[in-house]
Amino acid sequence: MPLPDGFIEEIKFKNDIIDVISSYVNLKRRGRNFVGLCPFHNEKTPSFNVYLQSNSFYCFGCGVGGDIITFIEKIENLNYIEAVKFLAQRAGLEMPENDGKTQELLSIKTRIFEINRESARFFYERMYSEEGKKALEYLKKRGLSGKIIRKFGIGYSPSTRYELVNYLKKKGFKYEEMINANLVYGKNGLRIAARFFDRIMFPIIDLRGNVIAFGGRTLPAQQKPKYLNTSDTLVFKKSLNLFSLNFARIDNAGVLVLVEGYMDVIALYQAGIKNAVATLGTALTSEQARIISRYAKEVIICYDSDEAGQKATARAIDLLRPTGLLIKVISLPNGKDPDEFVRHYGRDAAVRFSQLIKNSENDVDYKLKKLANNYNFNESNEKVAYLRESIKILASLDDLIEQEIYAGKLSEKLNVPKDAIMLQIEKEKKKKKKIIDKKHFLQVQQDLSAKNDKINTEKFDNLRAATAEEAIIAYIFNNPEMAGEIFSRISSESFCTSFNKKIYSILEERFKALRPIGIIDLTQDFSSEEIAAIAAMVARESERMSDKDAVLEYIDVVLFEKEKLNKNKIISARDDENEIMEYMKLLREHKK
Ligand code: GTP
Ligand code: MN
Repeated sequence: MPLPDGFIEEIKFKNDIIDVISSYVNLKRRGRNFVGLCPFHNEKTPSFNVYLQSNSFYCFGCGVGGDIITFIEKIENLNYIEAVKFLAQRAGLEMPENDGKTQELLSIKTRIFEINRESARFFYERMYSEEGKKALEYLKKRGLSGKIIRKFGIGYSPSTRYELVNYLKKKGFKYEEMINANLVYGKNGLRIAARFFDRIMFPIIDLRGNVIAFGGRTLPAQQKPKYLNTSDTLVFKKSLNLFSLNFARIDNAGVLVLVEGYMDVIALYQAGIKNAVATLGTALTSEQARIISRYAKEVIICYDSDEAGQKATARAIDLLRPTGLLIKVISLPNGKDPDEFVRHYGRDAAVRFSQLIKNSENDVDYKLKKLANNYNFNESNEKVAYLRESIKILASLDDLIEQEIYAGKLSEKLNVPKDAIMLQIEKEKKKKKKIIDKKHFLQVQQDLSAKNDKINTEKFDNLRAATAEEAIIAYIFNNPEMAGEIFSRISSESFCTSFNKKIYSILEERFKALRPIGIIDLTQDFSSEEIAAIAAMVARESERMSDKDAVLEYIDVVLFEKEKLNKNKIISARDDENEIMEYMKLLREHKK
């Protein structure tokens, strides 16, 4: 049973699209619309548009689009029903009863949370068992207190692989549920065994306090991978979560520290630095960069000082830059990682760390300094080469003031006039822009045609008609007061492509039933890709802003193309003799 129509209408009514999107994107008014930097891909110039009339959004950069429900689905990583629920809660509305299928999915997820919580409890208890002693001792040796172990819920998974299984079974969980949580292997009740054994277990907790996954570390002197993490499940995607964000987002004064490992986060926390987070065994992703920017204004990257750590730092900078975060980098002295640093300084660790933060350089200084290490400034040609490379770094900043400041610094350092450096930066920027524009244009074209191929498969054989149909549909969304007149001039029967015909006929029906028409009212009839395609139509039309005369012309185009299409059918039918007979018969009958 889909959600009742009236409910979606109420959701739309009670959640202003600008309000909702503004809590994720910094929107600026541009004419009748709002624009901002797209939260779904990294960009420096805004191509993300929100359209008030149609209550829709569309990004010309990456082709993501839809209504507020689609937006919440994507940005909060929820499914349709969860997004509706999210918006209902936001507006203080009660959810109506769900249909069976989504209810089922929800209950599978709930069971995974429960099973994870139960397992975390089990691991924690086992840490204090006879067998767990060695794990506990190891953590103690590394300086962790009982208090911090409890705070992070660190535990131990025993080496006999059926203990967890038996424990969970006793608690009333089915094998299937254990497998869904990725805690247990096995098929059809055969060869059931725990995934984690003889490991120190770090629960990974989301912002609502649910245990969503585990990271398991081997004890020393063992082989195997050092860390084993939960694979992605229905409640866990490693690219979308950060370890300890549940703690770090609290009272962080707008600053998050990004470190490499679980142990780094925990050691820092114990030392009093509670705002550190780590990725979950993978390099930073752009989604994680976006999440960080949602909970902080400033991020301090504190990766290992080895080659790999420095590479990861450079990569992280490039991913974090587009989010608008202020970025700083600290390199710990003597090649230590944060965990070693904390142990080395003991009680002074927090103070020392704060000093490091205070003296940390920002990302641009960091990059320039790294670069400088490769050149010998006594050689003119190396100096020139350095300058050339640094100009590339500066050209990639989009803040003119920043460029001025660093050009000034470079000018002093290398004894080259600042104006000359600024001039080179300008040139480099133009060159870059050309390349980007071209790439971007090609990409958009490619994406659009690929999408259109998939969504409206008849579009390219009926390009004129399909384009006009899209304009008509979009015009109705943008000017609902004109709907009656449009419907009286053309019916869905005259539409040439079936995808557009389906949209138009649903709108027509809704209009006749005196129901509101908006993109959001279609979400139950179309897939999210289809909704994105509809949002794209609306966005294109909003940029064009056709007037009524133009739309009347589009209607003529569709009617004309339809007639042509019908004639063509007859003509191609002539190719076939049998069909000619058929046709003659039809004609004779028609004349009677
Ligand atoms: P310690 O080695 O105990 O200090 O832990 P750590 O958390 O500091 O680990 P390390 O610095 O070696 O690695 C950083 C992070 O990379 C870890 O926290 C894990 O998330 C991840 N990682 C390290 N080794 C592995 C591995 O073998 N497999 C996977 N999947 N992730 C790993
Ligand atoms: Mn470490």
